Amino acid sequence: MKRIGVFTSGGDAPGMNACIRAVVRGAVYHGIEVFGIRRGYSGMIAGDVYKMDSHSVSNIVQRGGTILKSARSKEFVTPEGRKKAYDNLMAHGIEGLVAIGGNGTFTGAMIFGNEYGIPTVGAPGTIDNDLYGTDYTIGFDTAVNTALDAIDRIRDTASSHDRIFFIEVMGRDSGYIAVQSGIAGGAELVMVPEVLTPISEVVETLKQGWSRSKSSSIIIVAEGDEEGSAQEVAEKIKVQVDENADIRVTTLGHTQRGGQPSAYDRILASRLGLGAVEGLIGGQKNVMAGIVNNDLVYTPFEDTIRLPKPINEDLLRMVKILSV
Ligand code: F6P
Repeated sequence: MKRIGVFTSGGDAPGMNACIRAVVRGAVYHGIEVFGIRRGYSGMIAGDVYKMDSHSVSNIVQRGGTILKSARSKEFVTPEGRKKAYDNLMAHGIEGLVAIGGNGTFTGAMIFGNEYGIPTVGAPGTIDNDLYGTDYTIGFDTAVNTALDAIDRIRDTASSHDRIFFIEVMGRDSGYIAVQSGIAGGAELVMVPEVLTPISEVVETLKQGWSRSKSSSIIIVAEGDEEGSAQEVAEKIKVQVDENADIRVTTLGHTQRGGQPSAYDRILASRLGLGAVEGLIGGQKNVMAGIVNNDLVYTPFEDTIRLPKPINEDLLRMVKILSV
């Protein structure tokens, strides 16, 4: 392999830049030419491709976002779109790809690889930590710490005013950010998409807290919770508890996607970026590089996409025990 392409796709995540840097410098180290593809599959279709060298990735290890930009491409879902992408890769002599992204990114890579035979190795970049085949994804640790910082601040004001706060964190289908930030932030309850927490249980938790003279409470709601958004959950609760209960809602939203990556994310991203390049060189294709039990492993895209990564329900139990 003499020439590879690298791109970021889907929702951005802190640490993606550190991963791009590791891919580019790893390729240069091994004597391989590397091309950056802007805006993920959209840029592949548009031919937005440029040659990178070790200087192209100077001074980015500490930056959030992605210098290659990111997008969710609708056109790549069509065979015509993928044909355009393939023609552009061929025009640049690109023989292999490193895809940095999440589930949607790897689904696209798998279909493309099956159709055109271009080997791709993925690096898991998403704040959601919802990919099978790696203990943690790039960006998750930073997002948890960003959420935690906000929770700590909200706790101060919640306590001053004796209020109940419902705090919504990201996680469309996954409660990882909610669980970890909830434990670290001392939340009374954490609501996640994977396990139903009925409204009756939220009411019960609040009432028990009041009976023990608890004057303020923090409930973390993952974006994809079955009972609805934090706003919807708060409205349902309002009608079931004391009319005078002082309830507020904060949605943390995209604050969790930006910011300087933590040391953990930079190191993880560096290992996975280099692991992806060296995987490609070693003949890996249609797999995702991941770190499991501190070892670098490659998992077929098919498995990362199909297999669930369940929440540790013991952690949810712990939240309840520790909030007595
Ligand atoms: O997949 C990462 C994520 O941040 C999810 O937690 C969230 O549901 C989604 O992306 C938001 O996507 P967008 O930035 O396109 O609104």
